[in-house]
Amino acid sequence: MNTPLYDFLEKYAGSNTLRMHMPGHKGRAFGNFGSIYPYDITEISGADSLFEAEGVIAESERNAASLFGTAATLYSAEGSTLCIQAMLALMKRENRHVIAVRNVHRSFLSACALLGTEPEWIYPKYTGGILSGDADLRDIEKALSEHENSCLYITSPDYLGKTADIPAISEICRRYGAALLVDNAHGAHSAFMPENRHPIHLGADMCCDSAHKMLPALTGAAYLHIGNKRYAGGAKTAMSLFASTSPSYLIMGSLDLCNRYIAGKIRADLEYAVSRTEELKRRISEKYEVYDGEPLHLTLLCNGNKAAQELRKQGIECEYADGSCIVLLLSPVNTEEDFTRLEKALMSISPERGDNAGIKLPVMEKAVPLREAVLSEFETIPAEQAEGRICAFINVPCPPAVPIAVSGEIISRECIKIYKRYGIINVNVLK
Ligand SMILES: Cc1ncc(COP(=O)(O)O)c(C=O)c1O
Repeated sequence: MNTPLYDFLEKYAGSNTLRMHMPGHKGRAFGNFGSIYPYDITEISGADSLFEAEGVIAESERNAASLFGTAATLYSAEGSTLCIQAMLALMKRENRHVIAVRNVHRSFLSACALLGTEPEWIYPKYTGGILSGDADLRDIEKALSEHENSCLYITSPDYLGKTADIPAISEICRRYGAALLVDNAHGAHSAFMPENRHPIHLGADMCCDSAHKMLPALTGAAYLHIGNKRYAGGAKTAMSLFASTSPSYLIMGSLDLCNRYIAGKIRADLEYAVSRTEELKRRISEKYEVYDGEPLHLTLLCNGNKAAQELRKQGIECEYADGSCIVLLLSPVNTEEDFTRLEKALMSISPERGDNAGIKLPVMEKAVPLREAVLSEFETIPAEQAEGRICAFINVPCPPAVPIAVSGEIISRECIKIYKRYGIINVNVLK
């Protein structure tokens, strides 16, 4: 596959042009990042412009759309966060009521606060602390049936890798005329698996994928994928509402290079990575309880903090760990050596039992609109003393950045137990 954007950057980097334009480093080397500075440019002649794309960026985005099989694919150099903001802005334009399954990432809440969107929550049947669970299809149908003009927002895969039944959910959405938005930040690779499990293929109207999480792209690289053509025309303006006017060409260039990788080796690499991860899961299953989820999330139910410490001693760093699980992320670029090293380290550990018993988010009571609570003056107090106070700007650590109380909700005793369980010592409350 051609790489028009990367080719432009390469040509310019080698052209010895006197750069009388931004950025201030002028393409000259600094430190060990030396070789990348020449490629870091701004919107000069021929480089196109992300939010008014009609040249090399537009061509690269069309390449991505054809690889993912979408109606349109738009690049983000500001992660899935920007794509989530854009999706919700498009819903706002249609004045849709937003219904969301509660284990959302913090970026969803920020987008709601910016847009003045007050989401209605569906609480999943939690199976992995507050981070993971399944939404009951009957709860989804009930919520959709109560609002005429709505959209449903789900996170799949969630932070532990659990995936939702998107075909069934999209069928319900269609019946009620609701748009289906999927936070697929952790699932960009799913389009190229032996069986295509990408949300757009399964019926979503739009989704975001963080290319940087599961594909070989630079941090910040993401896609806004559009399945329903009606959203294609307005999506760029929706993104530009929130975005920096200086998106990184390094990040966009890495998305362009990713197209070449996807068109070339990714299917073979994924087939290997998936079968090797399955084999690894089988082999370690005598020691570990493996959480059910998408193939490249290796989530082990045990005292994750202890396991993470042990792995760190052996030079292995995990994605996330808490008292009940550890999440290890594989990707299509992992090698046999990586798998062997991981397996050896995991087998050398004696995992301790996790402490997941009874962790379930209670249905929360809202006292103040989300936007008002986010933008109000707040004070930070010990979580222990927060009972009955109203949650202000949320301060959950990232990862996993899944909120416990949402801004505007009353912090209950049960909530405080969950803060403790996730090691959150202080919370922000309205003054
Ligand atoms: C489920 C989920 N959604 C959205 C995001 C935001 O993605 P990004 O960091 O690409 O902006 C994250 C980030 O960790 C995430 O885990």
